[in-house]
Amino acid sequence: MADLRRSSEDGSSADLSSSTLSVWAGEGESLVQGATQVPVVYSAAYGYPDVDAWLDVALGRKPGHIYSRNTNPTVHAFEEKVRILEGADAATSFATGMAAVSNTLFALLGPGDRVVSVKDTYGGTNRLFLDFLPRVGVEVELCDTSDHEQIEAAIAQGCRLVYLETPTNPTLKVMDIARLATAAHEAGAIVVADNTLATPINQNPLALGADLALHSATKFLGGHADALGGVVCGGPELVARVFHYREITGATLDPMAAYLLIRGMKTLALRIGRQNESALRIAQWLQEQPAVAAVYYPGLETHLHHDVAARQMRGYGGVLSFMFEGGFEAVKRVLSRLRLAHRAANLGAVETVAGPPATTSHVECTTEEREAMGIPEGLIRYSVGIEDAGDLIADLTQAFAVA
Ligand SMILES: Cc1ncc(COP(=O)(O)O)c(C=O)c1O
Repeated sequence: MADLRRSSEDGSSADLSSSTLSVWAGEGESLVQGATQVPVVYSAAYGYPDVDAWLDVALGRKPGHIYSRNTNPTVHAFEEKVRILEGADAATSFATGMAAVSNTLFALLGPGDRVVSVKDTYGGTNRLFLDFLPRVGVEVELCDTSDHEQIEAAIAQGCRLVYLETPTNPTLKVMDIARLATAAHEAGAIVVADNTLATPINQNPLALGADLALHSATKFLGGHADALGGVVCGGPELVARVFHYREITGATLDPMAAYLLIRGMKTLALRIGRQNESALRIAQWLQEQPAVAAVYYPGLETHLHHDVAARQMRGYGGVLSFMFEGGFEAVKRVLSRLRLAHRAANLGAVETVAGPPATTSHVECTTEEREAMGIPEGLIRYSVGIEDAGDLIADLTQAFAVA
């Protein structure tokens, strides 16, 4: 299996399934002295016997590492694993998902550029669009997420970058990546897609036409809610520009976090398979509950863009949201009764996690801003863990008794 783990050079991973790649991909060149696991390399710098050998690495003529803000063996193994699963030629990583988003946008956009995105990207990303990019002279146009004609018209007016996130957090809207990438490329724009909720097991944005796919690795990739991280994958030229920006801004992934993310990713395909199945079953069950006014999950045939989701996703993911008739007061009562869910601002973990957007994805926004984005206060985001789905439904049943 050593060759597979070096598949970055020979491309021999092409015929292996994502569950095999989750386990083996990207690790070979980092293993030392027979270790079967990637070592955590805590060294700020790397020494060389003479200046010529040092220069060879520093100038990129030979592989190796110079300084861990730039590259590190443990971090590299994590990047390789995600790169291979996303089918990308290059990848670079970050201290957090938001560092991946912000470094990508700031590396690729400058004064006078225009970016087109949608109203309900993740709350932190939305703040970049509303507060930080305009400050450096970037024009931002945020369209209605479900209105593809409006997005296409905004793109056709000319833009440097189109930023997609699908499914969205927390209302699980689905964007047609292939359709919007075609429109973006006709306008000469770069397409960036946040693939955090789908994961490379369910969806590969690059294969659908995106130029860069990014993740908050804190979520499903790591899967255990014990490490923060981010990653961007795509073609070598774009990734090199983002990497260079990160080298200088210093939002580097820590080696211990990289190790935890690698360990978590070994079970990525297993976890996602289970979470896909359980989330669909729970979404179908929720649809039958009188206290529930609406259920948002792309796997439901009633979902507005189920056809697009069915075309571009292999599974519909572990996150769903639902709305209570009783509004925010009902949400508070039900959440406090759940026994098998952390009430916490996270998603994608082995444990079920639940919370309202006001304290999770859109904590940065005011109530009015959330309403303008179509995020109702009666909403609960429910990230399904790997527990037994029947137990989760029983837990929801007892909690709904107080709604
Ligand atoms: C879709 C999405 N993108 C990016 C982020 C930011 O990731 P991080 O919290 O790792 O900075 C999040 C966090 O919830 C997210 O849900």
